[in-house]
Amino acid sequence: MDVSVRPLLALHDLASVTMHDRVHLGPRMSGIEEEPCNDWLHVALSELRRLKQDRGENIARAAFIGSANGVDVIAALRLFRIGSLVVTDIVPEIIPDIERNIRDNTVPEDLPEELCFVVGRDCEPVPWECDLIYANLPLVMASDQELQSDLATTTLTDSSAYLKLAYAEDDPLLKWSLLPQLGFLLSAKEKLAPGGCVITLIGGRIPEDAIAECFQRAGMAFERGTVAVMRQSDEEYVEQYALYEAQFTHEAFLFYDEAAAAGILRECGYAYPSIVDVSAEEMRLLLAPAALTAEQARQRVSDGHHVAHLSYGFRAVPKA
Ligand SMILES: C[S@@+](CC[C@H](N)C(=O)[O-])C[C@H]1O[C@@H](n2cnc3c(N)ncnc32)[C@H](O)[C@@H]1O
Repeated sequence: MDVSVRPLLALHDLASVTMHDRVHLGPRMSGIEEEPCNDWLHVALSELRRLKQDRGENIARAAFIGSANGVDVIAALRLFRIGSLVVTDIVPEIIPDIERNIRDNTVPEDLPEELCFVVGRDCEPVPWECDLIYANLPLVMASDQELQSDLATTTLTDSSAYLKLAYAEDDPLLKWSLLPQLGFLLSAKEKLAPGGCVITLIGGRIPEDAIAECFQRAGMAFERGTVAVMRQSDEEYVEQYALYEAQFTHEAFLFYDEAAAAGILRECGYAYPSIVDVSAEEMRLLLAPAALTAEQARQRVSDGHHVAHLSYGFRAVPKA
């Protein structure tokens, strides 16, 4: 299937005049949302633009982890001049399509001098120290069997790779399924050049103190740049959140009834879906009347309704 990414790129002034802005998506590749403000890439591009504002357009060495379809890289190569770039995904068979999408949508003068494509988990296959590492990786842990379906690695991740990072059964990072994010951050920290940073996206379905603990255990200082309210993508996997909630969390993941959340935002003068200019704390308070647990969200989805969530873009650097 071929899809246009022009509306998404245009939102960030990155649409091309010479390229088609179309990508090919195979069955195991993350899709592109019809409404670009519902796409995680909208949050990614907001964070990447913020980085350019703060640090300028030159990046010597970068890694894009779990690229999925190449669109994150296509946009980054229009934003930055990157000397060496490694692009990864954990699913080997999608790497050729990711590469083709990037090459088909990038003018030759924007291509990095060194560009490589590798398969692997987190930053393990990254061959050099990086000034920027970008990732938007799944959080919810599931068994190997559940990960066999086509789109599963977009939303779910292999518990056997991360459970070892839990320090006890009541580890909050186990409770909120943040061990995969911790695993990623630990691997990223090892591959950062002095002065380098990580941009990582995390769904706001979990408490603030759990997020802070995750960065702290990775030995990283962090700041949140982007806060967005958007539709839960791949809604079939809300069920996995509900299962995880029942088994480990014993509290609630935070989803929202989409129609109710959109109504609240409209009354306050915000668009839905959108990136908002208020803090995550304020947004959670505002949206509280529309809140759902994962189990309630699962029921709403099975009744044919949509559910929403908060999504965050973070920039992290190793603690001094
Ligand atoms: C949510 S999609 C990310 C899409 C896109 N890069 C973005 O920024 O929105 C996650 C992608 O990462 C891959 N992935 C999942 N876990 C991974 C891991 N631990 N290391 C590398 N890639 C991973 C998945 O196969 C999927 O293609």
